[in-house]
Amino acid sequence: MANQTSKQIFKTLLSFFLFVLLLSDTVSSVRKSINLKKPCKRFVLHFHNIAYDGDNADNATSATIVNPLGLGDFSFGKFVIYDNPLTMDENYLSEPVARAQGFFFYNKKTTYNSWFASTLIFNSTQHKGTLTLIDANPFMEPTRDLSIVGGTGDFIMSRGVVTFTTDFFEGSKYFRIKMDIKLYECY
Ligand SMILES: *[C@@H]1O[C@H](CO)[C@@H](O)[C@H](O)[C@H]1NC(C)=O
Ligand SMILES: *[C@@H]1O[C@H](CO)[C@@H](O)[C@H](O)[C@H]1NC(C)=O
Repeated sequence: MANQTSKQIFKTLLSFFLFVLLLSDTVSSVRKSINLKKPCKRFVLHFHNIAYDGDNADNATSATIVNPLGLGDFSFGKFVIYDNPLTMDENYLSEPVARAQGFFFYNKKTTYNSWFASTLIFNSTQHKGTLTLIDANPFMEPTRDLSIVGGTGDFIMSRGVVTFTTDFFEGSKYFRIKMDIKLYECY
């Protein structure tokens, strides 16, 4: 009787290990090899943020929705929502190739620092789909790397890194970021 039970246990264990083996094989055959030295797709876009100042409703593409005072000199707590144009060149009047929709907020009392979330929405004859970026954006640094966490449509399941360079700013009225987009996973 005891012999019978241990045989049964052995059989169950064996089939479990075979199952795990099979599963790990399937998973590894689906995984693509990622070359971190060479992105599978790379392109540059320019992000234009025109802040609403109470007077420029036609021109503005971004709005400060919260701006607490008295928390230091670095806009701590300021929260901005935007629907910004993305262009191929640096001119904010150029035909946008996509829009960046999202928000950022200032989150440091000792220096300017922000946290940034955005979905780049492509809806043209060339490209349809989205890319979503989420990360800290310590914008006093000359360049920042932010993670690209996913995508849809032409960018389905994409992942990568975007390097931000603030290449122009006009006080808090207007700023432009160069977005150097590098995808390391493309499908
Ligand atoms: C994408 O563009 C098409 C054609 O201009 C338009 O009909 C559609 O509403 C757009 N979709 C979005 C999500 O903006
Ligand atoms: C729109 O905003 C840009 C950037 O601040 C500015 O240079 C331009 O003069 C504005 N245009 C209008 C019509 O207000």
